[in-house]
Amino acid sequence: VTLDPGAMGMFGPSGAGGWWPLWLWTASLVLVTGQETKLNFGHEMLSEFGLAKEYTNLNHGSYGATPLAVLERQQEMTRLTEANPDRFFRYEVYDLLAAARRAMAEYVGARVEDLVFVMNASEGINAVLKSLLGLGRDADHGSSKRVLCLDLAYGMVKEALGFLQDTRGVAITEVSTDELFPVAAAADFESRLMAKVKSALEEASAARRPIDVCIFSHITSMPAVILPVELLSKACRSYGAKSVIDGAHALGNVPLDLASIGADAYVSNGHKWFYSPKGTAFLWVSPRLQGSTEPYTNGHIYPLITSNEGKGETPYTKLFSYEGTKDYSGWLAFPAAKAWRLKYGDAEIIRYMHTLAMQGGQVLARAWGTQLLAPAELHAAMVNVELPTSNCTRAAELSHELLTQFHTWVPTVEKSGKCWTRVSAQVYTELSDFEYLAGAVLELLS
Ligand SMILES: Cc1ncc(COP(=O)(O)O)c(C=O)c1O
Repeated sequence: VTLDPGAMGMFGPSGAGGWWPLWLWTASLVLVTGQETKLNFGHEMLSEFGLAKEYTNLNHGSYGATPLAVLERQQEMTRLTEANPDRFFRYEVYDLLAAARRAMAEYVGARVEDLVFVMNASEGINAVLKSLLGLGRDADHGSSKRVLCLDLAYGMVKEALGFLQDTRGVAITEVSTDELFPVAAAADFESRLMAKVKSALEEASAARRPIDVCIFSHITSMPAVILPVELLSKACRSYGAKSVIDGAHALGNVPLDLASIGADAYVSNGHKWFYSPKGTAFLWVSPRLQGSTEPYTNGHIYPLITSNEGKGETPYTKLFSYEGTKDYSGWLAFPAAKAWRLKYGDAEIIRYMHTLAMQGGQVLARAWGTQLLAPAELHAAMVNVELPTSNCTRAAELSHELLTQFHTWVPTVEKSGKCWTRVSAQVYTELSDFEYLAGAVLELLS
C-alpha cells in the first residue's frame, strides 16, 4: 500500500503560487475563501484541530477529535441558548434538532423519523436493550429473554447485559472468537464467524430456547475488526431474533447505509469518527420496534398524548426529543461536522485513514518483528499489531508510560494468547507518527 497524494485526493498549495511561503498561502486562502480552505492530509491538518502541540494522537478511536470549525459552531449554539433560554428551550430547540437529525439521516441512508439523538453509544445501547428486554411499553414483561453476543462485544455492552441478567433474568449466550485470530484471509474469517453464530442460534432453537436478541459491533473495539453485520443480522432474522448493532466506531469510519444492513436497531457515535463534539450519537430503530423503545428518562413525556414537552414526527421521536434541561449544542453542530467532512471529501478521508492505518501497521510490525492481527479488508482506520512482548501484564503498563514519557497513548489487549495494540490513523496523522510509536515502545521494553 502506498500513500499517493494524488490518488488520495490530497489538497494543498503545491504547484499554485509556489513562491509564496506556506503560511502566507494558507492565511490568504482563509481570508479569501473562508470555509473553503483545504489543507493537505497529514500534519498540516493539525491546525484544524485543538490537539496539544506536543501530543501525538494515535488513539482517535477512543474519544475522537473535533475540528475547531465544528467547535465554533457548537459555541454559537451555546451562545444562542444562553441569549434567551426561554426562547431556545421552549420554541427553537426542536426545529433545530429536527434539522440536525435530517442532516444525519440523509448521511446514513435513513428516514428522519426513525433516527433520534442520544448522548453516546452507551446511552443508546442501554436504552434499546432495556426496551427490547423488558422495559418498553409493548415489551413482553416477565418472560425471560435470551441474548446472543460475541466475546468481542464492548465492555459496556457486556456489563449492560450482565445487569439485565441479574435484574431481569435475561440469559446470555456469548460466542467465543479466540480461535479465529490471527486472521489470514478475510473471507475465511467471515465464513468461520458466521458458522459459529449460526450454530449457536441453531443450538438455542433446537433446545426450544430460541435467541430473542443478537447484539454485534459493526467495528469491534479491542481488537478492532469490521464484522459482516449484514450477514449477522440476516442470520439472526432467520432464527426469529432481533439484531442490535453497536456501530460506535462506524459513522465516519466506513461508508454507512443503514437501510442495507437490515438490523432492527443501530447506534453510532458522532464524536468518534464523524468529527462532531463529545456527547453526540444517534439511535436508529426499525418502525416495528419503535413502540417499545424508551429513552433513559421517562419523567418528562408521559403520557405521550397529553405531554406538553418534546416535539417529534412520531411518539418515538417525541419521546427522545426532550429528557430535561441539558446541553443540545453538540447535536446542533452535526450539520457543521458533516459540512467539514464533505469539504475534505468523505471518500478521501476514509481512504486516507485506511491506507495510512495499514501502512502504519506494517511499519510497526516490521520494527517490532511481529505481525498484524488481520488483513486490510477487516480494517477501517484502526489496525491491531502484535507487541514485541509475550508478557501482556507488562504490555498493559505501556499505555500510561507512553503518555507520561512520550506524549502519546495506545491501548493494549490480549487476544488468542498474544498481546496486541490498536493504533488509529486520522487525517492529521502521518507515517512518521507510527515510526515514533515503534521507537517509543522498543525503548520502553528495552
Ligand atoms: C464498540 C464500542 N461500543 C460502544 C462504545 C462506547 O462509546 P461511548 O463511550 O461513546 O458511549 C465504544 C467506545 O469505545 C466502543 O468501542
